[in-house]
Amino acid sequence: MIAVESVVKAFDRRTILAGVSVTFARGKVAALVGPSGGGKSTLLRCINGLERFERGRISVGDLALGPTSGRPDRAERAKLQAIRQRAGMVFQQYGLFAHMTALQNVMEAPLHVRRHAPKDCRERALSLLDRVGLGHRSHAFPRELSGGEQQRVAIARALAMDPEVLLLDEPTSALDPARKIEVVKVLRDLAVSGATMVIVTHEAAVVRDIADHAVCLRDGIVVADGTPAEVLADQ
Ligand SMILES: Nc1ncnc2c1ncn2[C@@H]1O[C@H](COP(=O)(O)OP(=O)(O)OP(=O)(O)O)[C@@H](O)[C@H]1O
Ligand SMILES: [Mg+2]
Repeated sequence: MIAVESVVKAFDRRTILAGVSVTFARGKVAALVGPSGGGKSTLLRCINGLERFERGRISVGDLALGPTSGRPDRAERAKLQAIRQRAGMVFQQYGLFAHMTALQNVMEAPLHVRRHAPKDCRERALSLLDRVGLGHRSHAFPRELSGGEQQRVAIARALAMDPEVLLLDEPTSALDPARKIEVVKVLRDLAVSGATMVIVTHEAAVVRDIADHAVCLRDGIVVADGTPAEVLADQ
């Protein structure tokens, strides 16, 4: 589903990804682990087209991105947009629209990007909020929600675009232990339902309990790739 082949990425001539090759399978949950600064967020951002790279190739299904320099042309921009819709991203800091309710946040992209009918968007958004345990909070604004609740709205918002794969960058790291459990439960339910996910995490519990596959990135190099137990034992 996602194939990363020999990707090299540098920032200001500092190599951040030093030839990364890894495959994330459809319907499986992968955990991306490793020390801070190892390149995990950068790799997720490259997969989703938010960050370009100097060498190698990344494909998400049948859409492939190669190295580029300069501004993307029109065809390239269309491809980037298609990849972003295919690979939904959930950021550590939720990134909800502060002036919109939970429901409006989840409806926004299907309504304005996909231009689906408002009634359908609303029904679907309510059912997604229900799925993440927030059906009763659909009219709350982000400031009225706890961190764990906001993170769950962010997950519902990503799911609203029917992504083929969900990329999550440390979805539990900003949360206290009780809120973490709420979000982990949502992730586990999604995993059981056969979603394809790549989760960047520092939590051994997330790797052990949710992932089918784990990859450790250190200093821009894949230093372990195997079952969660193998990769955790290696760390
Ligand atoms: N936009 C940028 N410009 C310059 N350097 C960057 C940029 N983004 C990331 N880096 C550098 O790239 C390296 C890898 O960063 P990245 O955020 O991918 O690490 P990470 O594995 O996600 O770390 P953490 O676990 O702390 O989130 C770091 O040294 C970081 O300082
Ligand atoms: Mg990071």
